Amino acid sequence: MRSQQPYEDLERIIEFDFLRATEAAALNTLEWLGRGEKEMADAAACDAIRGMFDLMNICGEVVIGEGIKDNAPGIFKGEHLGTWIPGSHKFDLALDPIDGTTNVAKGLPGSICCLAAASPELHIGPSLKDVPTFYMMKLAYGAKVVRYMQRTGIEILSIRNPIEEIIPIVAKALRKRIRDLSVVVLDRPRHHKLVEAIRSTQAMVRMISDGDITAAIAPSIPESGVDLYVGIGGAPEAVLAAAAIRCLGGDIQAKMWPRDDEELKQVIEQGFAEELQRVFHAADLAKGNNIIFCATGVSDSPLLRGVRVRGHTAVTHSILMRARSRTVRMIEAYHDLAHKTIRLRSTKRETPIA
Ligand code: FBP
Repeated sequence: MRSQQPYEDLERIIEFDFLRATEAAALNTLEWLGRGEKEMADAAACDAIRGMFDLMNICGEVVIGEGIKDNAPGIFKGEHLGTWIPGSHKFDLALDPIDGTTNVAKGLPGSICCLAAASPELHIGPSLKDVPTFYMMKLAYGAKVVRYMQRTGIEILSIRNPIEEIIPIVAKALRKRIRDLSVVVLDRPRHHKLVEAIRSTQAMVRMISDGDITAAIAPSIPESGVDLYVGIGGAPEAVLAAAAIRCLGGDIQAKMWPRDDEELKQVIEQGFAEELQRVFHAADLAKGNNIIFCATGVSDSPLLRGVRVRGHTAVTHSILMRARSRTVRMIEAYHDLAHKTIRLRSTKRETPIA
């Protein structure tokens, strides 16, 4: 058994390998952009992620995979990634090989490949929360809003309150007129009343068809043009967004949102009755400091530009950050397609990009 390098040192180095995995996933997905084949796109992203992890000497365990949806060929909870050579460092992984698969299939904006990794930390227990419901109700805002609430100590932003009460507080915190506030919501029938309520405050609603990880992270990125994200979306997506937000300094509040009585009953039977009532913050969904988050754009989103191909060069845009240092790296990479290869799990070798 080889001696273990301290996690703090390793994280600095290995974070770039995690980024290679999302870059490879985005590049491998490219051929499926706008082809109407969301499963093929997802499979291509998974293949590249698994292939990259096959080169990494870590014991990676997927603790949060894709929501089991539409028979997606995804990477699911429990899967081992990495070489698992005895003595290698352990990482818990939350993965969404593509958030916004439908967007990719339709050639629409708003899709990314992303992952969060957490190494064990004393007194923290599992860092990335495995939420038992399929959906969560979410409210995400940036660091300015968090600081405003800390400063005033009176104004409290709570997901339990009506959106008509939340929006004026956010406007004050951001020193904006309510009518200039931009609130992102997933375009779903279940949000009909929510959208009406937001509009009744005069704030601007920006509907997205899919991809609420970037939507929830966006308010924490200055200049993203998004002030608030609200609505019901996937629970794994809430945890991934929380991991990113932990590195940026904003916050997300999220509550479990059972889809129907059957799911409610199941969750209660599994012993989560109390947690059903709980409001989780970013630090509850992604605990501790040993968190790495990275994402690469497939198609344009408020967070990242999508992959661009110019002649023989593919340009990727990624974000890489750690909760411990809060260093945020925006990485633009130029890949020479005449030379570039990706390690795929399916071929078990370096494979040119189609
Ligand atoms: P996938 O790309 O994994 O299908 O997820 C897209 C997404 O829009 C998520 O960003 C969001 O959290 C979730 O689906 C919303 O679920 P639904 O489409 O069932 O409303």
